[in-house]
Amino acid sequence: MKAYKLRDNIWWVGGIDWDLRNFHGYLTQRGSTYNAYLIIDEKITLIDNVKYYLYEEMLSRISSVIDPSKIDILIQNHVEMDHSSGLPMLMKLLPNVPIYTNANGIKGLKAHFGPEGWDFHEIKTGDSINIGKRDLTFMTTPMVHWPDNQFTYCPHEKILFSNDAFGQHIASSERMANELPLNMVLEEAKKYYANIVLPYSKQVQKVLEAAAPLEIEMIAPSHGLIWTDGIGQIIDAYKHWAYYDADPQKALVIYDTMWKSTQKMAFAIAQAFENKGVRAKMLNLQTNHISDIMTEVMDAKYVCVGSPTLNSSILPTVAAFLYYLKGLSPKNRIGLAFGSYGWGGQSIPILQQLLGDKDQCGFEMLDPIKTQYIPDRATLDKITQDLEQQIT
Ligand code: FEO
Repeated sequence: MKAYKLRDNIWWVGGIDWDLRNFHGYLTQRGSTYNAYLIIDEKITLIDNVKYYLYEEMLSRISSVIDPSKIDILIQNHVEMDHSSGLPMLMKLLPNVPIYTNANGIKGLKAHFGPEGWDFHEIKTGDSINIGKRDLTFMTTPMVHWPDNQFTYCPHEKILFSNDAFGQHIASSERMANELPLNMVLEEAKKYYANIVLPYSKQVQKVLEAAAPLEIEMIAPSHGLIWTDGIGQIIDAYKHWAYYDADPQKALVIYDTMWKSTQKMAFAIAQAFENKGVRAKMLNLQTNHISDIMTEVMDAKYVCVGSPTLNSSILPTVAAFLYYLKGLSPKNRIGLAFGSYGWGGQSIPILQQLLGDKDQCGFEMLDPIKTQYIPDRATLDKITQDLEQQIT
C-alpha cells in the first residue's frame, strides 16, 4: 500500500474500510476511511491513527515513504477508537515517542489503553510546536465529537487537520473531494453531520467562530475525502447545519403501517403540504434506514411521524426512530403526530409527547391527526383540508 502525496513532504497514510456498513447504528453504505497524515520535516510527525484492523495498512503506507521507526512525534486529535485503536501497536514500535494531545485526550487514551510509560504532552488551544520548517498549532474542539477532540493547524501549508469535523463516511480510491461528484461528497458530509455531529451543534457554532480567522487551503478530516476546491461549500454547509436552518418548503412524512390505514393518512398529509406548495417526502420506516431519514431531517421544517396503535403503544420501528431522533436533537422544527387505531388509540398521544415535550424532541406541534380503522375517501380528504389550514 502506498502513501498519497498531498503536498511536498505531506502524505495521507490512512486506512480504507471498504466493508464498513454499520458505524454504531449509522448505515454507512459507502464504507469509510480513517485518515492519518504524515509530515516529513526535521521532526517526522504522524497526525492521528487508524482502526486496529487497518494498522498494517497504515504502516505499509508510511513505509512507502519512510521507515516508521523514524517517526519523532505523534499527534492524537481524538481518542475514539476509529482513530486510536492502532496506537498501542504503533507504540510498541515507538515506545518513547512524545504524544501531543489535550488533557481530555490524555485522560481518554489512558482510560482506553492503560498505557505504561507513554510520553504524553498536554496541549491547549493556541499552543504550537515547531517540527522544523513548519509549526503546528492546536485548537481544542470539545464535543465535536467527544470531549477530547482537537484541530491541528499548519499555518505554513494552510492545512487544517480537523479530525471528525468536515468528514464523510466514504471509502474510495480517490483522496480529494474534487475527484468525485461534489454533490455526493456534500450529501455524505450532511449524513455524517446528521448522525454524528448534530447533537453538538452549539459547540460547532463556537468552533466555526474560533476557526474563522484561519487561512485554510486544505481541510484534511479523519474520514473520507480531503477538501480543497469545496472548502467554501463545506464550511457554508456547516454554518447552516450548526444553526439548525430548515427549509420551510420541505416536509417529511415518516411512518410505519400495519394494514395501510396509517399509510393512507400519510399520503393525505403529504397532499396537504403539496397543496400549500411544500415539497413532501414519504419515508416509510419499513424501507428507509433511520440514519438516512436523519439526513433528510437536516433541512426539513416539518417532521410528521405516524404510527398505528399496537399493544397500547407505537410500532417498534417508529419508537426506534423517535429515540434516535431525540438523541440527535435537531431544533427549530415543526412536528405532527398521526396514526390509525382500532380501539385504544394510544399511539397518537405517545407520538405527540415524544415529538413535542420539551424533555423529548421539543418541536412546535401541529394538531395531531387520528382515524379509527380504515379511513375512507371523505375522511382522507378532510385530513388534507384540515391540515392545510394549519400550514402557514
Ligand atoms: Fe471518527 Fe469520533 O470518531
